[in-house]
Amino acid sequence: MSGTTQPLHVTGHLAPVADEIDVVGLPVEGALPPELTGRYLRNGPNPLPGEPSPHWFAGHGMVHGVRLREGRAEWYRNRWVRTRALAGEPMLRADGTVDHAVGVANTHVVRHAGRIMALVESSFPHLLTPELDTVGPWDFDGRLTTAMTAHPKTDPVTGELHFFGYGFRRPFLTYHRLSADGDLVVSAEIEVPGPTLMHDFAITDRHALFLDLPMTFQLERLAEGMPFGWDEGYGARIGVMPLDRPGAVRWFEVEPNYVFHVGNAHTDPAGRVVLDAARYGAADAVAMWDGLGTDPAGLAADAAATGSARLHRWVLDPATGTVTETALDDRAVEFPTLDDARVGRDARYRYAVADEGGRAGIVKFDAANGTRTEHDLGSEVVAGEAVFVPSGAPERAEDDGWLMSITTRRDGTASQLLVLDATDVAGTPVAAVLLPRGVPSGFHGSWIADGDLAAR
Ligand SMILES: [Fe+2]
Repeated sequence: MSGTTQPLHVTGHLAPVADEIDVVGLPVEGALPPELTGRYLRNGPNPLPGEPSPHWFAGHGMVHGVRLREGRAEWYRNRWVRTRALAGEPMLRADGTVDHAVGVANTHVVRHAGRIMALVESSFPHLLTPELDTVGPWDFDGRLTTAMTAHPKTDPVTGELHFFGYGFRRPFLTYHRLSADGDLVVSAEIEVPGPTLMHDFAITDRHALFLDLPMTFQLERLAEGMPFGWDEGYGARIGVMPLDRPGAVRWFEVEPNYVFHVGNAHTDPAGRVVLDAARYGAADAVAMWDGLGTDPAGLAADAAATGSARLHRWVLDPATGTVTETALDDRAVEFPTLDDARVGRDARYRYAVADEGGRAGIVKFDAANGTRTEHDLGSEVVAGEAVFVPSGAPERAEDDGWLMSITTRRDGTASQLLVLDATDVAGTPVAAVLLPRGVPSGFHGSWIADGDLAAR
């Protein structure tokens, strides 16, 4: 193995970019729907030039933005989130406690109550302007005392934003709620046996669901870049917390597994709680986690040995205390998304991205008939998270809208903002905005319509 071998997470389509640029007037293939007037923002890790990168998850947050307006692609720009971590400050204070105002802000970018927040699960959110300048860390006027997950959930009816924070010191897990106006109005500690890597959670119209899974905090693994590891002995459980009784969680034991990303959850007419997610079985969880490490020799074994997640469903019955688990599909996928108007409600469609067997695609699952359709990207291009953007039609169908995804050539040389018709995912793209650079495959993002930006 050559001494210059780079970890996979800084090569090819994952390779960081070295600078910030602004380009106006982007070429478009096809026709951008004029209703798509807003910004697509996407976050991901991007180490500084020359900076060692111990782990894919550790790079500094960089937000890539594409401005669409009335059928035109007005600009692309990219900005590092100007965090104190970017300035070289440590997260850990001398006394060993965590300074939540220091974090890499590299995982997601969301809007709530007029604020755009760049998120990473180890720190406070960082506020950004619509032009991607950093305002700074935000602790909700001092009310937030834990980190904030990068996967908060907005209830589409109440407008409240539910989230949690986890840490390796007590309290290990805390539930939080923002009002629709953006005030932190509820914080409640959740009892769990220990600190785990809890990346996502779910809501229904009346519950919050927590995934207490056996990816436990293991300080001795810090040298590998992330102090977590698989520990099947921890067990695995899903917690159901009524939203009107914050902190009161009923736990259901499940088969050991790991989940980065939830699909959705809802309460069915019989009162059962139904959760689906992209689930790694035990062997896949181990392979996936080891594959994310820093050892280039290990990574050279790469994709074939990397564990895969598949859509899975748990049905939790509070009346009987039983759990039913069902595999929903055999296609390996990640980054499940759905119509935000269906969060916490029974939803027919999930979208996700796939990259298996050397071919990548954007996938649509139809729960009503158990079918899967796929936009095949071939062998040279990979898809980023596909965000569903609803059409503005009144009484629209659940899938009446578009999917937006930044695609990147595997060699990292070029990217597009791909716009698919969500009712015809496998069909010819509606439009593709040709971006002025290869955008590294990253994590999560949001479409922020101009109308949403103005609303508070
Ligand atoms: Fe995530």
